[in-house]
Amino acid sequence: MAYNLLKGKRGIITGALNENSIAWKVAEKAHEEGAAFVLTNAPVAMRMGEMNALAEKTNSQIIPADATSVEDLTDLFTKSQEVLGGKIDFVLHSIGMSVNMRKTIPYAESNYEYFLKGVDISALSFHKMLSVAKKLDAISEWGSVVALTYMAAQRTYPFYTDMADIKAMLESIARSFGYHYGIEKKVRINTVSQSPTKTTAGTGIKGFSDFFDYADAMSPLGNADAESCADYCITLFSDLTRMVTMQNLFHDGGYSSTGVSTEIMHKFGLK
Ligand code: NAI
Repeated sequence: MAYNLLKGKRGIITGALNENSIAWKVAEKAHEEGAAFVLTNAPVAMRMGEMNALAEKTNSQIIPADATSVEDLTDLFTKSQEVLGGKIDFVLHSIGMSVNMRKTIPYAESNYEYFLKGVDISALSFHKMLSVAKKLDAISEWGSVVALTYMAAQRTYPFYTDMADIKAMLESIARSFGYHYGIEKKVRINTVSQSPTKTTAGTGIKGFSDFFDYADAMSPLGNADAESCADYCITLFSDLTRMVTMQNLFHDGGYSSTGVSTEIMHKFGLK
């Protein structure tokens, strides 16, 4: 059911790789809610071609941009304003990649070249995006920027390797930039800390499937899926949350506030 929450708003949505991507669901919902937006992804992801179907379905243009390149990001924000006919009202940062994790390198033995690449793609890209937008004055007053994160930024999950530190940095950038952009232009910046979700990035994590079941059993409402994450992002892009900024918001069915659930206790022999 749509509520026209984003009627007349212009956006940029990163990271829709395929129909499992969280960003894909955000794009579908944003379209339903009346927004016009540009889709973007790394040129290499574009070659897979799946995004074209989403662009067609949501009536949107695709502008390729490597999120680590200030030049590409400048081009993205400049062209997006031309295509959409004005300043940008919302941005979704839905970008994550760790080479250390992909190569199943244990945390304590992290390769630093890979580590830096992970930082650049998954955290610094957020700073670059915001910095470019601010320099171009491309985001409208009361505009809303959301990045997706995971709770390993606060608590240790051994399998999350260097992405834990990278997500901590991402969340910190949301706070720091949220202050500066808020003071100057009333732009809001938040992170949404999402449940484990069956996407390309998610299932690339070692032991993901077992952990997914564990988190599901730990959460009073069960794991939040990509679609409900998209719903939450839409509320954050809307004017209904205009005083929310610099927050890390858990979207996890109650997982982050649960010490242990009875279901898990039963698995350990509780009668
Ligand atoms: P996904 O694999 O569908 O999306 C990741 C996206 O990052 C892809 O579209 C990929 O092409 C893009 N990307 C990688 N390098 C890039 C670059 N240099 N420039 C531009 N784009 C680049 O997976 P998912 O799960 O939808 O990931 C989206 C976000 O959600 C990520 O930040 C991830 O860490 C976060 N997240 C995912 C969870 C999960 O369990 N799937 C849980 C919590 C957060």
